[in-house]
Amino acid sequence: MDRRLIAALLCLALISVVGAEPKRPLGLDLYRPSPRDNPVTLEKVKLGRLLFRDRLLSRDGSLSCSDCHRRKQAFTDGRAKAVGVYGREGPRSVPTLVNRAWGQSFFWDGRIRTLEEQVVQPILAKLEMDLTLEEAVERLRGKHRYRKDFQSVFDRAVNAEDLAKALATYVRTIQSGDSPYDRYVLGENDALSESALEGLKLFRGKANCTVCHAGPTLSDEEFHNTGVAWRDGKFLDDGRYAVTKDERDRGKFKTPTLREIARTGPYMHDGSISTLKEVIDFYSDGGRENPNRDPEVRLLKLNGDEKAALSAFLRSLSGELSDGG
Ligand code: HEC
Ligand code: HEC
Repeated sequence: MDRRLIAALLCLALISVVGAEPKRPLGLDLYRPSPRDNPVTLEKVKLGRLLFRDRLLSRDGSLSCSDCHRRKQAFTDGRAKAVGVYGREGPRSVPTLVNRAWGQSFFWDGRIRTLEEQVVQPILAKLEMDLTLEEAVERLRGKHRYRKDFQSVFDRAVNAEDLAKALATYVRTIQSGDSPYDRYVLGENDALSESALEGLKLFRGKANCTVCHAGPTLSDEEFHNTGVAWRDGKFLDDGRYAVTKDERDRGKFKTPTLREIARTGPYMHDGSISTLKEVIDFYSDGGRENPNRDPEVRLLKLNGDEKAALSAFLRSLSGELSDGG
């Protein structure tokens, strides 16, 4: 056989083993983590996306993942609290799914460690899709398309483990980067407006935001108490405490990413703050004082110009949203 042909075939074989990794938007780590036993392949991503959009995974066939995590709202739903099957309202707000491949724990309280474990939780949750995994697998096995696709991707019949692997793989490909902020950081001096640049200075300096909202995802992936859950002398939601049972964790929540933040309101774990302007007022006033408030959240007393600048900066975190690649 021709040498070049052999080289080309070897290359193809290699790509099919490790999976074709498309390029990352500016500002994200070039290395996108995925578990050894669940590499990202385009065929698996396609199957995952199909599942993500399929209402068959909910009890009454009324709801898919993409009905709560809507692409055009940067994978949120615009509501304060999530609404599941039969109009059941959940206790928390729908978080964006951008850049979760880099996430270190999942849910507002971080109770889940991996995306593979995470993605089946909404299917099982009574207040969300309310199905058992047995029922989900049976429904998928009843469809020719899924029988064929699971066989082709995983080389075996539809099962719960592979359902989770396909969904997690698709979620890993939901990315946002290449925002004016990223372009500025990478040397494009005029990528930010004057006001946004002023806002970036505040964000990193006086307003102290980068203590928690740092790195490529603009989250330290840690848990903090800003006081959002504190009302009338008690916490309406215990947050991280439910996981650790440590008193000091009462009212702590995972620092959310700020990418695409202009599109993901209402804000906070309970959707209690409607606009970015009000979020900035909240921080300017020192969050909500309570026995566990993080010492890094303190009275800032920002003036009108400073607030406008911070808001302009937060808007510069909207970039290129992509999924499926
Ligand atoms: C009824 C609305 C609803 C549906 C349907 C839904 N989700 Fe969610 N999703 C939520 C809410 C609310 C949370 C946060 C819950 C919490 O923190 O307790 C969440 C959290 C997540 C997270 C964690 C994000 C993070 O940063 O911690 C992922 C990943 C996710 N959902 C993926 C999915 C997938 C995959 C599906 C479909 C199988 C799905 N969701 C279906 C409402 C929904
Ligand atoms: C001590 C850590 C910490 C600091 C400092 C901090 N944040 Fe946060 N931020 C959080 C946590 C934790 C949440 C989620 C709180 C909740 O939902 O109860 C949050 C939520 C937000 C949200 C809402 C995100 C969403 O998806 O709902 C925005 C916007 C935000 N912060 C912007 C800022 C800005 C701007 C600053 C600086 C003025 C700042 N943060 C300082 C930890 C912090």
